[in-house]
Amino acid sequence: MKKIKTGTMLKDKIMTTIFYEPSTRTKCSFQAAMLRLGGSIIDINVDQSSVQKGETLEDTIRTVSCYSDAIVLRHPRKSAVTDAAKVTEIPIINAGDGVGEHPTQALLDLFTIKNELGLGSMTITMVGDLKNGRTVHSLAKLLTRFCGIRLIYISPKELSMPNDIVEYLNPFIEQRTDVSLEDAIKVTDVLYVTRIQKERETCEYEPYAITPELLKSAKKKMIVMHPLPRQSELPPDLDDDPRAAYFRQVENGLYMRMAILDYVVKKF
Ligand code: ASP
Ligand code: CP
Repeated sequence: MKKIKTGTMLKDKIMTTIFYEPSTRTKCSFQAAMLRLGGSIIDINVDQSSVQKGETLEDTIRTVSCYSDAIVLRHPRKSAVTDAAKVTEIPIINAGDGVGEHPTQALLDLFTIKNELGLGSMTITMVGDLKNGRTVHSLAKLLTRFCGIRLIYISPKELSMPNDIVEYLNPFIEQRTDVSLEDAIKVTDVLYVTRIQKERETCEYEPYAITPELLKSAKKKMIVMHPLPRQSELPPDLDDDPRAAYFRQVENGLYMRMAILDYVVKKF
């Protein structure tokens, strides 16, 4: 996919993006992916659509299904994408459903880890809002498919990884919550940082800050990841460190979404 600039694999196919929540990366990379594969796109601007006249999600999906070969949907309600998929025959891709999941992000995250370090025995430390951050939910679940992964969670107690996910992971992955950030950093291969999801959380929390100073005690060969957008938890003065992988992660999103569309739309 990296080599394809003007492909024809999805010529004559149309993908519609419908985002009920803001997005920079997921929406643009899905659109760029479709264009690079030779397909076309419709983008529904929810603020200008009949959603403003009270149209239900189900009716919008039914309608758009008549015009498209695939739908990419982001919605603030957990499980909204699963519900929407029940009213359409065409593929519908989850681009983030509230505090639920963000599965295509998990795939690009996995691809990034594989590219940067290879997949093997490793310690992955997840930092930040693990309760509301859907990217860590999906990535943690995906990691159960691989052997030798240890997870360390670092978050305020009120923002810890949801119990249902901890239980889902339990048979497969060692999960620890009793390690400080300073200790975790020394043994970490992948530091996966997330922002506090202010739009979903009413309480104020002092976010963790991953400073160049903190990284001094980290391994030479490790990576810092972040799904972005970032806030103060990831200061820009970290960007020049070769271990900062988050913009390489962004780029991988394009290739991964090309692969996803090629697989899903062609198969359909
Ligand atoms: N962009 C990611 C998401 O939509 C992470 C975030 O917004 O913090 O879940
Ligand atoms: N990582 C991610 O989902 O970014 P956006 O919210 O900008 O799409």
